[in-house]
Amino acid sequence: MKTFIIGIAGGVGGRLARLLHDHGDEVDGLYRRPEQGVALAADGINATRGDLSSLDPTALAHMIRGSDVLVFSAGAGGEGGNAGTTAIDGDGLTTAITAARSAGVTRLVLVSVFPDAWRGRAVSDTFEHYIEVKKRAEVELVATEDLDWLIVRPAALLDDPGAGRVALAPALIHTEVTRDDVAAVLAELVHTPEIHRKILELTSGDTPVPDAVSHLLRE
Ligand SMILES: NC(=O)c1ccc[n+]([C@@H]2O[C@H](COP(=O)([O-])OP(=O)(O)OC[C@H]3O[C@@H](n4cnc5c(N)ncnc54)[C@H](OP(=O)(O)O)[C@@H]3O)[C@@H](O)[C@H]2O)c1
Repeated sequence: MKTFIIGIAGGVGGRLARLLHDHGDEVDGLYRRPEQGVALAADGINATRGDLSSLDPTALAHMIRGSDVLVFSAGAGGEGGNAGTTAIDGDGLTTAITAARSAGVTRLVLVSVFPDAWRGRAVSDTFEHYIEVKKRAEVELVATEDLDWLIVRPAALLDDPGAGRVALAPALIHTEVTRDDVAAVLAELVHTPEIHRKILELTSGDTPVPDAVSHLLRE
C-alpha cells in the first residue's frame, strides 16, 4: 500500500509517515524545507519537496499518482495570517481534491478540527478564521461524489507520548489528544478502506486504537 501525506514533515504527518513506513508500507509526501527531507530520508522515507501554496493541481497530481490514499495533514499554523490559512488549509485542499481526481487517487483523508474547539473562550479573529476555513474545506470534501473521503477531527494536539487509547466517534466533547495517538488512528484508518464517507472526532480515551477503529466497522 502507498500513502502520500501532504504535510509529511508536520507533527502529525511525520509520525504517521514513520508508523506506515515501519509497517512496511510505501510512503511519500510533500514537505517544504531541505532539512525536513534529510530527516525523513534518515528514517528511510523518500518524500517530495514542494510548496502547496504555489503548486498547481497538475504538478501535485504528478507527485501523488500511484498512491492508494492521500492524507491531507498540512496546515498554515497561523503563518501568513488569515491569507496563509486560506491558502493552505482551504485552497490547499481544493488543489489536493483536483489533483486526486486527475491522478485517479480516490481515497482522501483530511485531518481537520472540531468546529466547536474552544467555544466559550475568547479566541482571536485568526482562530475564528481558521475554524471557518477548516469547516469550508470539510464541506467541499463531503460534497465530492467521486472520492472516498474520510474526515478526522482531532481535539487539541499534545506532544506528550501517546497512550494508545482514544475515543473515536462522530460526536465527542472537545478535549485533547496526543499527536502520537492521532497518527496511530490515521495509520489504522489508512489500512481500513471499508471506513469511508464518515466524519470522526478524536480525543484521548479508554479504547485501544485498533478496537476504536474496528468498532466503526460494526456500526
Ligand atoms: N494544533 C492543534 O491543536 C490542532 C487541533 C486539531 C487539528 N489540528 C490540525 O491538524 C493538522 C496537523 O497538525 P500538526 O500539529 O501536524 O501541524 P504542523 O506540525 O504545523 O504540520 C503542518 C505541516 O503543514 C506544512 N505546510 C504548511 N504550509 C505548507 C506549504 N505551503 N506547503 C507545504 N507544506 C506546508 C508545514 O510545513 P513546515 O513544517 O515547513 O512549516 C507542516 O509540516 C493541521 O491541519 C491542524 O490544523 C491542529
